[in-house]
Amino acid sequence: MMRKSITKGIILAGGMGSRLSPLTNEISKQLLPVYDKPMIYYSLSTLMLAGIKDILMIVAPKYRSAYEGLLGNGSQWGMKITYQEQKYPRGLPEAYILAEEFLDHQSSILILGDNIFYGHMLEDVLKKAIYTHEGATLFVYRVKDPSQYGVINYHHGEIIDIVEKPKCPPSNYAVTGMYIFDQRAVSYAKKLTPSERGELEIVDLIKSYSLADDVHDVNLCRGMAWLDAGTPKDLLNASQYIAMLEERQGSKIYCPEEVAWRKNLISFSEFHALVNALKKSEYSNYLKMLVQEQMTNSTLEEGVV
Ligand code: TTP
Repeated sequence: MMRKSITKGIILAGGMGSRLSPLTNEISKQLLPVYDKPMIYYSLSTLMLAGIKDILMIVAPKYRSAYEGLLGNGSQWGMKITYQEQKYPRGLPEAYILAEEFLDHQSSILILGDNIFYGHMLEDVLKKAIYTHEGATLFVYRVKDPSQYGVINYHHGEIIDIVEKPKCPPSNYAVTGMYIFDQRAVSYAKKLTPSERGELEIVDLIKSYSLADDVHDVNLCRGMAWLDAGTPKDLLNASQYIAMLEERQGSKIYCPEEVAWRKNLISFSEFHALVNALKKSEYSNYLKMLVQEQMTNSTLEEGVV
C-alpha cells in the first residue's frame, strides 16, 4: 500500500480558558507565557519538528489579530499558517467541522494549543506515526492520576473503550491532546451531538471510529514529558519545567526561529536576518549566540578546507 504522509496540522487555540480566569479575561490562554515564550510556540514548534508545514490555527474571533500579529502567515519560518475563527468553544471536534475546506479530504494531526510535549524521541515518534497512520491515532501517556482525562481501557493490549474522566480509571493511560485522524474525521464530527456539558467531545469523535480496527495508540514513554497548562498550578509547573531544562542546558526549547533553521525550513541567512530583527531579550540573546556559533563553525570549516 502506498502511504501518504500527513502534511496538514491543526492547532486549537480557542476555548474559554475559564480555569485561568482572571488571567484569561482579556488575553487568550495560548498567548500567556510559559516561562520565556508564548504558550502557542510549544505546540507550533512540535508540529514543525514533526515536519508539518501547513497549519490551521483555530482561534476565538476576539484574539485573531493578536495571533496574526505574533505568528503572521508563517512564511518567516518557512511555514504556511492560516486562521479560522471559532465563534464559540463548542468542543474539540468542532475543529474538524471548521477545518473542512483546509483539510480537503486529507488526514491531519491535531494538537491542543495548551499542551506541551517534549523529549528527544518525540520527533521520531511523531514522524513515524504520521507516516504509518491509519484511522485514528491517539498519543497516550501514563499518569499517576488519570481521573481528569480520557482514559484507555485495554484488554490484552487492545483498546476496548475510552472513558472520559472516570472515577475508577480502567488504566493509567491518559489520552493526550494530540491526535491523528484520517479524512473521515470531518463527516464523523458533523454527526456528533453535544454532551451533557454542551460540548462536542473528542472521545465521541474517536469512538466514531471502530475501536477494534481503526483506533491505534502510540505510547509516549517515560522518556518524554506531557504537560498541559490549563490551570494556574499547571501553568506554573510548565514554566518551572521549561526554566529548569533551559537553565541547566543553556539552550532553549521550542523557539520557532531555531526549529525552522535546524529543520531546513529556512536558510541560515534567513535565520540570521530574523534574529537581528528581534527585540533585545534573553530570548534573542540565545538565538544570537546560535548565529555566532554557526558563523564560527563555518569559518573553522572553511579554514580546514
Ligand atoms: P480546554 O482546556 O478543555 O478548555 P479551555 O481552554 O476553554 O479552558 P477551560 O476549561 O479552563 O475553560 O481546551 C483545551 C484546548 O483546546 C485549549 O488550548 C483551548 C482549545 N479549545 C478550542 O480551541 N476550542 C474549543 O471549543 C475548546 C473546548 C477548546
